[in-house]
Amino acid sequence: MPEAMISFDAASKTYPDGTVAVHPLTMEVHEGEVCVLVGPSGCGKTTTMRMVNRLQEPTTGAVYVNGKDVMTVGLRELRLEIGYVIQQVGLFPHLNVRKNVATVPNLLGWDKRRIDDRVEEMLDLVGLPSAEFGDRYPHQLSGGQRQRVGVARGLAADPPVLLMDEPFGAVDPIARDHLQEQFLALQARVKKTVIIVTHDINEAVRLGDRIAVMRTGGFLEQHAPPAEVLGAPASDFVAEFTGFDRTLKRLAVTPVESGELEPAGPEAADLDLIPAHGSLRDALAVLLDSRQGKVAVGAPGETPEGVLTMEGVHRAIRAASGSA
Ligand SMILES: Nc1ncnc2c1ncn2[C@@H]1O[C@H](COP(=O)(O)OP(=O)(O)OP(=O)(O)O)[C@@H](O)[C@H]1O
Ligand SMILES: [Mg+2]
Repeated sequence: MPEAMISFDAASKTYPDGTVAVHPLTMEVHEGEVCVLVGPSGCGKTTTMRMVNRLQEPTTGAVYVNGKDVMTVGLRELRLEIGYVIQQVGLFPHLNVRKNVATVPNLLGWDKRRIDDRVEEMLDLVGLPSAEFGDRYPHQLSGGQRQRVGVARGLAADPPVLLMDEPFGAVDPIARDHLQEQFLALQARVKKTVIIVTHDINEAVRLGDRIAVMRTGGFLEQHAPPAEVLGAPASDFVAEFTGFDRTLKRLAVTPVESGELEPAGPEAADLDLIPAHGSLRDALAVLLDSRQGKVAVGAPGETPEGVLTMEGVHRAIRAASGSA
């Protein structure tokens, strides 16, 4: 069993004016896992996230980080363990990019050399080389670049836990796609325990190992891997929130399995080739373009594992529904 790095134990939040932002919530996020909180505006996502680093204190119940009740840990110790990328980026406007990224290492009292190296490394990681961007101030950056600096700052002290509140919200679809891709590549390397907030179901499906769908009032409707949420929505709310086209969305998170393939005959050599274990979505895109109505599956230069047809895609989707 993977370890729970963050756990909510019937944690609720009622604001002083009586607003119930989060209904008692019980949920675990495993070490190295990306959990995406998704739901409509005002449903309690930010409040849930802020209970983890104690920017909000739970009204009832408890939140544990790495086995410790956040209410019993020193605030400074807690926050230094948790990187935080906030909803409106929140860079310090009077500090340049380098100094923004160095914020937490400075607080931790790292020596100057180590901080400089780390800042350099983080800016490279998010694709903003310090020679070009390090001396700029936040107002001299585009919205997407500011968000990337926010991510670099959140990661700078190498915290085991990272909280990201709509980290890619302020950018156009192409930049967003690129940032999501960079995030996934980065996460594959650094393997943090991450909570990401978004109200975009497509982003949730793409980034999350598991996604937590919330409804107004801070009710957790479903907490499961993306393919399961899309394939077997737990309630009418989840079905509506994920959209009538949820089966299409699910193609992106369902791999091509050898069980759905037909044997490759001699004709397979002339078909378009798609990689084994790629997504059904990518497979379908090639399939729709193919003149023969089928594609070969395998590695270039090797005997194909088999041939995928429309019927195979159907079978795969039905099989995934049955198992979800
Ligand atoms: N300080 C506060 N005092 C009173 N109510 C608050 C406070 N902060 C948030 N709320 C309310 O709590 C509920 C949940 O807010 P929260 O910010 O957690 O939502 P959210 O899901 O992050 O929304 P969004 O997607 O718009 O950012 C909302 O009804 C909001 O109005
Ligand atoms: Mg919010």
